[in-house]
Amino acid sequence: MPTVRANDIDIAYRDQGSGDVPIVLLHGFPLDKRMWEAQAESLSGEFRVIAPDLRGHGESQVTPGPYTMELLADDLNAFLDALGLGQVTLGGFSMGGYVAFAFYRKHPERVANLLLLDTRPQPDSEEAKGGRETMAQLAESEGGAAIAERLVPRLLCADTVANCQDVVDCVTAMITECPVEGIAGDLRGMALRGDSSDLLPNISVPTLLVVGDQDVITPPAESQSMASIIPNAKLVEVSGAGHLSNLENPDAFTGAIRDFLS
Ligand code: MLT
Repeated sequence: MPTVRANDIDIAYRDQGSGDVPIVLLHGFPLDKRMWEAQAESLSGEFRVIAPDLRGHGESQVTPGPYTMELLADDLNAFLDALGLGQVTLGGFSMGGYVAFAFYRKHPERVANLLLLDTRPQPDSEEAKGGRETMAQLAESEGGAAIAERLVPRLLCADTVANCQDVVDCVTAMITECPVEGIAGDLRGMALRGDSSDLLPNISVPTLLVVGDQDVITPPAESQSMASIIPNAKLVEVSGAGHLSNLENPDAFTGAIRDFLS
C-alpha cells in the first residue's frame, strides 16, 4: 500500500478506482483501513475510494498521544494536500465520524458530501472519560488483545458473533495488531473531544447517515436525531448489524452509499 508524508508523519493508505470527487473513508477506534475492504472493492468500479490509516494505526506512523480529533483532522487536511485532492466525499465511521466533524468545522469547503457512519456528535460524559483512561491503561499494561476481548462483543451484534467467525477474526486481528500507543492515543484524544452538536444545523452539504439497527455504541436513535437536525440528510438503518454495520451487512451498507452518491 502507498505511503505519503503529511503533517510530519508517514500516512499509509489504500487508493482504488477513479473519479473526480474521491470518497475518503476514515476508520474507527482502534481499527485501520482494512475495515473498508468490501466498500473499496465494490465502490471502486464507479468512484475513486481512498482509505488512510489514521496516525498510530495500521501501517501509518505511530506518535505519542493523545490524538485529538483536531490533530487527526489536520493530518487529513495535509493528507489531501499531499495527494493533490480538492473536494472529497468524506465518510467517517464512529471515531472517524468525530474526525469528520472536526474536519468539517475547519475545512467545510473541502467536503462535497458527508457520510456519517455509526457515529454521534456528543462528547464523552465524565464517567465515559474515566472509562477511556481505564481502558488506555489496560492497553498499556496488557496490550491490544485485552482490548479486543472487551470490545468485540460490543462492536458486533450477537448474530454476527455467533455465526460470522470471519468477521470476528478480522475485527480481532485489527484491534490486536493496533499499536498500543495508537489505542491509548485514540482513547485519550476521544476523551478530550468537544461537542459537535452545534455543527449539525449548519451542515450545508448532502449528508448520508448509516447505522446498524442493533448498534449499542452509537444507537440508531442518535442517528435519527442527527438526521432530523441536519438540513439535507438521509438516514439508512442497516438490518442485522451492530456497530460495525459495514462489515456485518456490507451489501446494504455499500448499497446505501452507492444510492446516495448516484
Ligand atoms: C469507534 O468505533 O470508533 C468507537 O467505538 C468510538 C467510541 O468509542 O466512541
